[in-house]
Amino acid sequence: MVKCIGVLTSGGDAPGMNGAVRAVARTCLNKGIKVYGVRLGFQGLFNGDFIEFDRTSTRNKINLGGTFLKSARFPEFKDPEVRKQAIEQMKKVGMEALVVIGGDGSYNGALKLTEMGVNCIGIPGTIDNDIPHTDHTIGFDTALNTIVDALDRLRDTSSSHQRCTILEVMGRYCGDLAINAGIAAGAEIIITSESGFDEAEVIERLKASKASDKTHAIVVITEHITDVNQLAKNIEVATGFETRANVLGHMQRGGRPSARDRVLGSRMGIYAVELLEAGKGGLCVSEVSGKITGLDITEVLSEKRVADNGIYEDAMKLR
Ligand code: ADP
Ligand code: F6P
Repeated sequence: MVKCIGVLTSGGDAPGMNGAVRAVARTCLNKGIKVYGVRLGFQGLFNGDFIEFDRTSTRNKINLGGTFLKSARFPEFKDPEVRKQAIEQMKKVGMEALVVIGGDGSYNGALKLTEMGVNCIGIPGTIDNDIPHTDHTIGFDTALNTIVDALDRLRDTSSSHQRCTILEVMGRYCGDLAINAGIAAGAEIIITSESGFDEAEVIERLKASKASDKTHAIVVITEHITDVNQLAKNIEVATGFETRANVLGHMQRGGRPSARDRVLGSRMGIYAVELLEAGKGGLCVSEVSGKITGLDITEVLSEKRVADNGIYEDAMKLR
C-alpha cells in the first residue's frame, strides 16, 4: 500500500489545476498517505523542490487561477539520466508515486517515470482540450468562457466600426477552443486545423457576407494556422472590409477557474489517488461521457484528438 505520494503541475498552466492539487492532497491526508507538493513541474522533481502538505496547505486555493505549485517547461527531463536523478530526489523523502497534472508532454514524462519503476498517474490539465479520450481537459471551460467574453467585446467595436475582426485563439493543433467559442459568440467564420484553411474561400464568404446585409464580421482562428496580420491585410484588400487582427494570447490562460473546471479538477484528483492506492501506474484520468475513469497513457498518446462528435457539422449549419 502506497504511503507517500507527490503531485506536480507541468507544461502550460490551466485554471482548475489548483482544485486538482487540493483534491490530491485532501484525499491522501484523509487516507493517511503522506503527500508532497512538487514545485515547478519536473524541474522541481529534479531539484527536490518539495513541500510537505498538511490540511492547511491547500486552503483558499480552489478559487485561484494559474497553479500555486508553479509550472515549468523542462525539456531536460527527456534525458534518462535527469529522470534517474529525479527519482533519487523522490527516494530521499520516501515519495513512492506521483500525480502529474499537465498536457500530453507531461503525460510522456509520467509514462517514462512509470517505466523506470515509479507509478505515475496523469491528469489532463491544459486549456487546449487536445488530449484524446477525455470529454474535456481541466482549464478548457474557463478559457472558452474567457474567449467568448473577448469575442463579445470585439463584436461591439467591430459592429461600431463596420469592420471584420479576426481573433486568434490557443489550442495548439486542436480546434476545440475556436469551434466552441465561434459557435457561442456567433462568429461568421471559424478556422481550425480540423476544418482546414482555404484563404480564397474565406475571402469569398466574406465578400458574400458584405454583399448581403452584414456590416461587420467575426473570424475565429486557431493558432499556428496562418499569420493573422497578413490575413487581415489580404481580407481588407480583397473584400473592402476594414479588418483588424487580434491575438488573445496568454490572457485566455489566466483567471478564476469556472465551477465546471473546479469540479472536474476535484473529481480527477480524487480518482488519481485511488488509482495509485490500487497500485496502478502509467494511467491517466479521463472524463468519458461524464464518468471519471482511468485509461492507459500509451493508448491515449498514440491517438490524435478527434473533435467533438458533430460539432463541425453543426457549426456549418449556422453559417
Ligand atoms: P504539456 O504538458 O502542456 O503538453 P510540454 O509539452 O511543454 O507541455 O511538456 C511539459 C513537460 O513535460 C516538458 O517540459 C518536459 O519536462 C516533460 N516532457 C515532455 N515530453 C517529454 C518526454 N518525451 N519525455 C520526458 N519528459 C517529457
Ligand atoms: O499548452 C497550452 C498552450 O497554451 C498552447 O495553446 C500554446 O501554444 C502554448 O501553451 C503556449 O505556451 P507558452 O506558455 O510556452 O507560451
